[in-house]
Amino acid sequence: MRTFGTRGPVDPEKNFIVHRTDEIADFINRVKEGRYIVIFAPRQTGKTTFFYRALDKLIDETYFPIQLDFEEYKNRSVGDFYRYLYEDIREEIEDVLQKRGNSISEALVHFLESTQISDHVLMRRFFRNLARLLNGQRVVLIIDEFDGIPKTVVSDFLYSLRRIYISRATPQSPYSLSIVGVKNIRQLDYDRSISPFNIQDEFTLSNFTVEQVQALFDQYTDEASQTFAPELITTLHRQTGGQPFLVNRFAQILTEELDIPKPETIRMEHFLAAHSQMLQEQNTNITHLLTNIHRNPRFKSILMKIVSYERGVRFNLDNDIIRELTTYGVIARGTDGMCEILNPIYHHRILQAFKPFL
Ligand SMILES: Nc1ncnc2c1ncn2[C@@H]1O[C@H](COP(=O)(O)OP(=O)(O)OP(=O)(O)O)[C@@H](O)[C@H]1O
Ligand SMILES: [Mg+2]
Repeated sequence: MRTFGTRGPVDPEKNFIVHRTDEIADFINRVKEGRYIVIFAPRQTGKTTFFYRALDKLIDETYFPIQLDFEEYKNRSVGDFYRYLYEDIREEIEDVLQKRGNSISEALVHFLESTQISDHVLMRRFFRNLARLLNGQRVVLIIDEFDGIPKTVVSDFLYSLRRIYISRATPQSPYSLSIVGVKNIRQLDYDRSISPFNIQDEFTLSNFTVEQVQALFDQYTDEASQTFAPELITTLHRQTGGQPFLVNRFAQILTEELDIPKPETIRMEHFLAAHSQMLQEQNTNITHLLTNIHRNPRFKSILMKIVSYERGVRFNLDNDIIRELTTYGVIARGTDGMCEILNPIYHHRILQAFKPFL
């Protein structure tokens, strides 16, 4: 039987999964149109799961996917960065060809052996030449953990991508590019000189709706023949705000840790036990939250204002502090235009962190 997953990307073979069908279809359309897309969302909102699933659907051999991850690149020099980048791209090309059962052509072998990338200009040329050797297949480049890009590299790297995108050369290579991360380009582009991506190509990944949570829990019910009280799903959704990790963590506690016998319906009293555990336990998501709220001493006063019912704070992304807390997924814009803590679980944990003796 599958289980609820909380350790990194979820896999539909092993885990229950929200399919995000509409968002995936939208994303694939943009890839097919050759768009350069950015996906920025806080930690553990399902970014990596999302593009893995999307790539699985893009099996069409017109496209040649190359997936990179910049997480390990953070403190590298420019030379090292491009050298690792080249090695990673090369491994990816070999992997894709092997998976597809295609042998690597003499010309491609020669090209890969004789090429070096040591800066952004050579990278641009590399992609142009690569496209010519892929028999019309279009390179779809996806970069996860883009925030790991070294500070010294980011500006030139983005310039080159912008140049590829606006030159509209045929074939455009990379044909499509997706940049995935927590911080948006404006926060990463330290000299703030360029904005290579059109704002329309920002792709948002929302928290789960109550219907998505229901569909996720239905998968468990189908496989385990254990039902949930209907009000439990709506309460769980309200308490977590549909935050993907928190939803799954609740589900894990309810289905694996509370030892509720299978013939029994999982009810509100069980939810309350899981809830009190959620308000106490350390897990990766809560650890991120607590680390983030302590990053800047100015966060405390603004968060305390947000949680106080009398005062409140207007949501205004021009304010650095508000923008940062939004980036980290701590606050969001409420329907009344005021700042709101993302969900009641975070609300409680923030109060507990700043007022530990209450
Ligand atoms: N489609 C999904 N269906 C069910 N659960 C999901 C889905 N996507 C994400 N999750 C939940 O969120 C967790 C994190 O997913 P994932 O690693 O894809 O997110 P991420 O945004 O890439 O995280 P990070 O910022 O840490 O890299 C998963 O372990 C799972 O609990
Ligand atoms: Mg990820």
